[in-house]
Amino acid sequence: MMKIAIGNDHAAVEMKNEISSYLESKGHEVINYGTDTSASCDYPIYAHRVCKAVLNGEADRGILICGTGVGISIAANKHKGIRCALCNDPVSAGLTRIHNNANVIAFGARIIGLEMAKGIVDAYLATEYKSEERHERRLKLLEDIENGKDIG
Ligand code: RB5
Repeated sequence: MMKIAIGNDHAAVEMKNEISSYLESKGHEVINYGTDTSASCDYPIYAHRVCKAVLNGEADRGILICGTGVGISIAANKHKGIRCALCNDPVSAGLTRIHNNANVIAFGARIIGLEMAKGIVDAYLATEYKSEERHERRLKLLEDIENGKDIG
C-alpha cells in the first residue's frame, strides 16, 4: 500500500474526491493537497504542494488533476527531481512507470471520465520501473538538463 499525495484545482474537485475514495477503498493512504471548492484558483500552487510531499518523502507518489492535466503537469515538471507524466489513458500510465519512473501522474477532469481515471491510477500504482540501462541513461540525461548541462 502506498502514501499518495493528491492535488487539484477547481476544475477537478469532484474527480479528486472520487479518486481519493477509490484509492482509500483499495487500502492506500491519500493526503489531500488540492482545493475542495469550485472557486477559481491557481493550479501551480497545488502542483507545488504535491511535489514537495513527494520530494520530501512524505508521499510515495503524487496524483495531479486539473481541467486538462496540462497546466498542473507543466507546473510539476518545474520541480527538480519530479518526473510528472500527463496520462489520459492507462497504457501511458503503465509505460511511464516502466520507462520514465514517473513519480507523479497528471490527468484532465475535463478530458476523461471517472472509469478511465480509475484505470489510469490502477495502472500507474501497479507498475514498477524497469531499471534497464537505456532507461537509466535517459533519466540521467533528464537530470543533466535539470542541472543546466548542455546535453546536445
Ligand atoms: C482552469 O480553468 C484550467 O485552465 C485548468 O484546470 C487547466 O486545464 C490548465 O491547464
